[in-house]
Amino acid sequence: MLLDQRRLPGDVSYLECHSAADVADAIRKLAVRGAPAIGIAAAYGYALAAARGDDLDEAAAVLLASRPTAVNLPWAIAEMRRGDQGPAALAARALALHEEEVERCRRMAGHAAGLLEPGTRALTHCNTGALATGGVGTALGAIREGFERGLVVHVLVDETRPLLQGARLTAWELERAEVPYSVVADSAAGSLMARGEVDAVLTGADRIAANGDAANKIGTYALAVLAGHHGIPFYVVAPSSTVDLAARSGADIPIEERDPGEVSERFHARNPAFDVTPAALATAIVTEEGVHRPPYQESLAGLGRAREEVAG
Ligand code: MRU
Repeated sequence: MLLDQRRLPGDVSYLECHSAADVADAIRKLAVRGAPAIGIAAAYGYALAAARGDDLDEAAAVLLASRPTAVNLPWAIAEMRRGDQGPAALAARALALHEEEVERCRRMAGHAAGLLEPGTRALTHCNTGALATGGVGTALGAIREGFERGLVVHVLVDETRPLLQGARLTAWELERAEVPYSVVADSAAGSLMARGEVDAVLTGADRIAANGDAANKIGTYALAVLAGHHGIPFYVVAPSSTVDLAARSGADIPIEERDPGEVSERFHARNPAFDVTPAALATAIVTEEGVHRPPYQESLAGLGRAREEVAG
């Protein structure tokens, strides 16, 4: 059962998935979205295929083909394909992977909140909260933690064209958490920064390369450039399951091109769903392991080792 994010904020309704193909379809159509949540859903989809006695190679292939950018998806499938492939073992592994992702959120939110000053007016993009992760969130988890510590006083929420993950999902989460927020048009960010109304920008990531280049929702790169121009810290908050040390730089990250109909139903359109923020524009990258500073090639390298050790 997946909370169908396409229907939020109007309806809180659930989608039943009966096969790995159903889960892949839910990922492709954004019923479930956000890098960690995509990985968790894929793990459950794989366990579901085992419970049904389906071919596990086919299940892995159909899930892996659903969306290309978030590395959490191939990471989760790789975790699931390690060891005992029996239905009970796989169900337990999917649950464990989910619980571990919740714990990673809790830890990274704590580390990132420690970077925020009292009185922070934070700006964020897309949705990086509970809906995107299963836990408290990545960037939005840090913002919520910062609010609970009395550091964050207001959140500017980019509406996030074309599918409005900010205006529909982040606003819904902040309203429920009673955190003061305002939705703004994506194109308002620059002038709000120029007027001194933004103290920090926090975003998530779908894949972080070994050199610190980070792919995230389209529009993130523009925000990072604007933050750099205005001398505002730009923090990328993501779990180690989003770090892909096999990608040397952003050039190795596949960028999803979605249906142009999501941008314009009438006119010719392009719809790149993600962009890459060069490492040089990130003030810090925060994972559950702590705050990573440039040079990221060195500060992220330990994560790969930690992941290998976890993988056994
Ligand atoms: O297309 P989406 O909605 O799946 O894109 C999600 C994002 O870009 C998030 O910022 C990213 O997955 C990090 S979520 C913790």
